Amino acid sequence: MILSIESSCDDSSIAITEIATKKIIYHKKISQEEEHSCYGGVVPELASRLHAIALPEILKETKPYFHKLKAIAVTNQPGLGVTLLEGIAMAKTLAILLDIPLIPVHHLKGHIYSLFIEKEATLPLLVLLISGGHTQVIRVESFEHMEILATSMDDSVGESFDKCAKMMGLGYPGGPIIEALARKGDENRFDLPVPLRNSPLIAFSLSGLKNAVRLKVIACGGSAAMSDQDKADLSASFQKAVKRHLLQKSKKIFTKEPIKDFAIVGGASANQYIRNAYEELCQEFGKKLHVSPLEYCSDNAAMIGRYALHAYEKKQFIDHHAIDIISTKKQQAGMLL
Ligand code: KG4
Ligand code: ZN
Repeated sequence: MILSIESSCDDSSIAITEIATKKIIYHKKISQEEEHSCYGGVVPELASRLHAIALPEILKETKPYFHKLKAIAVTNQPGLGVTLLEGIAMAKTLAILLDIPLIPVHHLKGHIYSLFIEKEATLPLLVLLISGGHTQVIRVESFEHMEILATSMDDSVGESFDKCAKMMGLGYPGGPIIEALARKGDENRFDLPVPLRNSPLIAFSLSGLKNAVRLKVIACGGSAAMSDQDKADLSASFQKAVKRHLLQKSKKIFTKEPIKDFAIVGGASANQYIRNAYEELCQEFGKKLHVSPLEYCSDNAAMIGRYALHAYEKKQFIDHHAIDIISTKKQQAGMLL
C-alpha cells in the first residue's frame, strides 16, 4: 500500500491506496473552510497551523496499515509554501521511520489522475484544469508526457469565483455559493465582458472580469445595499461570462487537437453549469467528456495516491533529505515539469 498526503492549500488529507488493486483502503480529509470564511480566502499561516493539528489527527487512524506500506507520497508543488511544508515534514518523517521510499507528487498531475481513482488510466486525453490556483488546458499523452496548451495570464477560475463572492459578502469558498445563487438569478441582467473575446490568443484571463464584477457591486451601492436578487443575478451573469470565456477558448483548441477524450478536473470542475456546457460542446465536436467523482474534484490525498501508483511502478523516488518544495519561477507559474 501507498500512504499519500495532501496539504497544498486548505485541505488536510491522507489516503491509503492498495498497489495491486488501485483500491482506496482509507481516505480522510479535514477542510478549513469555516476557519478561512471570515477572511474571504485562505490565510496561509493559519492554514499551516491547522494542518499541524489535523494531519497528525488523521494519521493516527492509519496506524494499523503502517506495516503494509511500501511508500509514502506527498504533494511537494505547487501550492502555499508554508502548508506544503507541513505535509512534507510528515512524509519525510514517516519514510525515514518506516524505511520506505518517498514519492514527490505534482499537485496538478494529482488532479489529472483524480480521473483514474480505482480505475485504469485511459490516455491520451485533453484536460481542462480549473482550480483555485490554476486554469490550464493540458494535452496528456502519457504519464511522462504532458504539455500545457493554454494557461491563465492572471487569475484562475476558482479564485475569481472566490473573489466575486467576497465582493458580494457571500463567504468562502465562493464557487459552490455562487453556483447555488446563480440558479435563482437572471444571467442576462448584468452585462459583463467575456475575457479575450476578440483576441486570437489561446489563453485565459479572469482579472478583467473580476474587476467588472467589482464595478457592478459599486454601481449597486456596495454589497450591503444589494438585495438577494441582485446577488443572484450578478452571480449568474458572472458565471455565464466565465462559461463563455472557457468555451470560446476551448473551441479553438478542439479544432486543432484530434484527441477524442476530454476531461475537466480541479475544484471548479464540480460546477454543474460548466459541466453541462462542456457536455454540449463535446457533443458538437465529437468528443467524450470525462469528469472525476464530485468527492475527488477538490483537493484530496486519494488523487495524490493514484498518481503515486505510477510513480511507484517507475521507481520515481526521491532522497528523504532532498525533497523540499520547489520554489522556482516554474512553480510560481504553476508549470508542469
Ligand atoms: O482544486 P481545488 O480544491 O484547490 C486548488 O488546487 O486550488 O479548487 C478550489 C477552488 C476554489 O476556488 C473553489 O471556489 C472552487 O474550486 N470551486 C468551485 C466550485 N466548487 C469549488 N468553483 C466553481 N463552482 C463550483 N461549484
Ligand atoms: Zn487543487
